[in-house]
Amino acid sequence: MPIVDNHMRAYYQQRAAEYDDWWLGTGLFARRERPGWLAEVAELIELIRSLPPARVLDIACGTGFLTQHLQGDVVAIDQSSAMVAVASARMPHVRVLQADAVPLPFADNEFGRVLTGHFYGHLLPDERTSFLTEARRVAGEAIVVDSARRPNIPAEQWQERELNDGTRHTVYKRFFTAPELAHELGGGEILHDGGWFVAVSA
Ligand SMILES: C[S@@+](CC[C@H](N)C(=O)[O-])C[C@H]1O[C@@H](n2cnc3c(N)ncnc32)[C@H](O)[C@@H]1O
Repeated sequence: MPIVDNHMRAYYQQRAAEYDDWWLGTGLFARRERPGWLAEVAELIELIRSLPPARVLDIACGTGFLTQHLQGDVVAIDQSSAMVAVASARMPHVRVLQADAVPLPFADNEFGRVLTGHFYGHLLPDERTSFLTEARRVAGEAIVVDSARRPNIPAEQWQERELNDGTRHTVYKRFFTAPELAHELGGGEILHDGGWFVAVSA
């Protein structure tokens, strides 16, 4: 059964054109107080760039902000046609498809690795289980990159988010510490344990 409700799907479809403002600290994010953010984004990019080349699937790739740094034979999917359009324009050499994370339209073990960035933490507990089952079916390694759980931030929340046009959207978000994420993935190697981001390979 597909995961992620229609509201969140529509929110990302609407957000595609302005999505990279979050990464870059531009637009509405210029007024956010995020000490060390850009330096840690650079570290994360370097981590992605230094992964050994593989046949890799980026699930819920968004605009391809991280995808573009993957080495090897890269396929990227996202449910949003607007995200796919941005990612395709950014990465003409990558096969970018509009497709769902569950079920994945790929054969068992078709990839050496899957990557997913800032998607896992938007999934409800049952959805996370379904997602991991699918990710593990198509690849032997899964790398999950997500937002770090920061002090004084609850582990999960329904966040109200605003877009450039003033519309407001409610989105579920689960924050993990790196050890929590590794534990939830059934063990694994912590690749990044920062103030803003965590990354685990399992
Ligand atoms: C927070 S963005 C992350 C984008 C990118 N991975 C990054 O790190 O910048 C979440 C993405 O998940 C996509 N998405 C949501 N539900 C999905 C699903 N069921 N299957 C595939 N993509 C999905 C959205 O369209 C959106 O692009």
